[in-house]
Amino acid sequence: MDQSFVDKNVLDNSFSAIRRIKEMLGDVCPGYYIETYGCQMNEHDSEKIAGMLEAAGYRKASEKASADLILFNTCCIRDHAEKRTFGNVGFVKEIKENNPSLITAVCGCMMQQPGAAEALAARFPFVDMIFGTNELHLFPQMLESVMNGERIIRVGKPNEEIAEGLPIKRNAGFSTFVNIMYGCNNFCSYCIVPYVRGRERSRRAGDIVEEVRRVVRDEGFTEVTLLGQNVNSYNDNGLKFPELLRMVNEVDGLKRLRFMTSHPKDLSHELVMAMKECDKVCEHIHLPVQSGSNRILELMNRRYTREHYFDLVDDLRENVKGIELTTDIIVGFPTETDEDLEDTLDLVRRVGYSSAYTFAYSIRPGTKAAVMDGQIPEAVKKERLKRLNDVIAETIVKANDKYLGTVGEILIEGKDTRGEPMMFGKLGSLKMVYVKGDESMIGKYYNAMITGTRFNSLAGEIID
Ligand code: SAH
Ligand code: SF4
Ligand code: F3S
Repeated sequence: MDQSFVDKNVLDNSFSAIRRIKEMLGDVCPGYYIETYGCQMNEHDSEKIAGMLEAAGYRKASEKASADLILFNTCCIRDHAEKRTFGNVGFVKEIKENNPSLITAVCGCMMQQPGAAEALAARFPFVDMIFGTNELHLFPQMLESVMNGERIIRVGKPNEEIAEGLPIKRNAGFSTFVNIMYGCNNFCSYCIVPYVRGRERSRRAGDIVEEVRRVVRDEGFTEVTLLGQNVNSYNDNGLKFPELLRMVNEVDGLKRLRFMTSHPKDLSHELVMAMKECDKVCEHIHLPVQSGSNRILELMNRRYTREHYFDLVDDLRENVKGIELTTDIIVGFPTETDEDLEDTLDLVRRVGYSSAYTFAYSIRPGTKAAVMDGQIPEAVKKERLKRLNDVIAETIVKANDKYLGTVGEILIEGKDTRGEPMMFGKLGSLKMVYVKGDESMIGKYYNAMITGTRFNSLAGEIID
């Protein structure tokens, strides 16, 4: 397991650049606006960029149109994500016409694809700064150059190193992310992530525990989600994920511990037991299955079978009381037949997910599946996606009934003002519960009795 760290001198330079920008700005507090696409990794990277900007004297702008710096943190997991980004970067042209000193930046996974940065630079001459996933920790130096009139286009190979100690401006709330590893080595045949995020590398367990301690103690978060593309292959010199989970579980003041994503091929019985034995670990697991057909799973290079997946589900359900599963599924992978889809529908019915992210397969240039024979027409993918979503909706509704009359702890997250105003919060299983109440409840934990079901949420009454 590679575990090299960015040179301390390089990070010192980043901090020096932050100080110089702050001096340059003096009393001025320019506004920044960050638009983030894609997964929690990107969300969290944006929090790091926001952290650097705030340390340099920037403040979050209330809206895009009034910002002095607009940054797009892009995703390329599917074609759709890419198209949206191009459209939205285009709109900035108008804002720039009204505010010529506006700084526009584009970064993230999409920029890491061959030729993408150059194409974006040519199409949008007003973009001042383009960088990849490799250059996140160099953001202050690059921003300083842009402020001095340079245009920066800098995309290296995806990062092989870990940058520790950058400031992080976490999104407000009660729940936050902590990275435990970066990159991915799995090369699922449809997926672009290993190409744009580089090889797997794990942070030190001690650094992770310390960060969790800090966010709980100093920033008031009570729920933490440990992040990685495949947390089950976490490895800090032999210290594996179940052990890490047990270490984080000991952090004082932490109430809830979550993690994502788990790859079924690496989900061990030790992890199931750690989930069972750690009181703060929530009764939920996101376990992407991708397909219920063994033939397709093999073509996807997922390296497990549906039978193995069922065994994992049994182990989880036997040991982790009340556990809910969520998943990701792709339909329309090359050569997928109606029979393969039936296998997927059958798996979905048997597992009974509490929610699922479903996608039509999208060709990602450079991946193995992109050049496979037997690509499925878009109309067929669409139709299969609808069939899958219908089955999932059915299973979700069916699974809600078991909650009726039960009592569970919910963390109140906010107020829903559509219709009769209701407070909403989540159970450890991630199920959303609506209750009567007021804003003073936000951020607190309550026991609720479940009294009704909606489509993918529940209704309840506070009982303490
Ligand atoms: N590391 C995570 C997933 C990251 S990507 C894991 O292994 O589970 C999130 C989801 O996007 C994937 O689970 C997959 O369902 C979907 N996805 C990835 N590449 C895709 C593609 N080319 N077309 C459609 N969906 C895709
Ligand atoms: Fe992509 Fe597979 Fe890695 Fe997940 S495990 S990021 S789907 S290659
Ligand atoms: Fe995430 Fe999209 Fe990159 S899903 S890792 S932001 S390609």
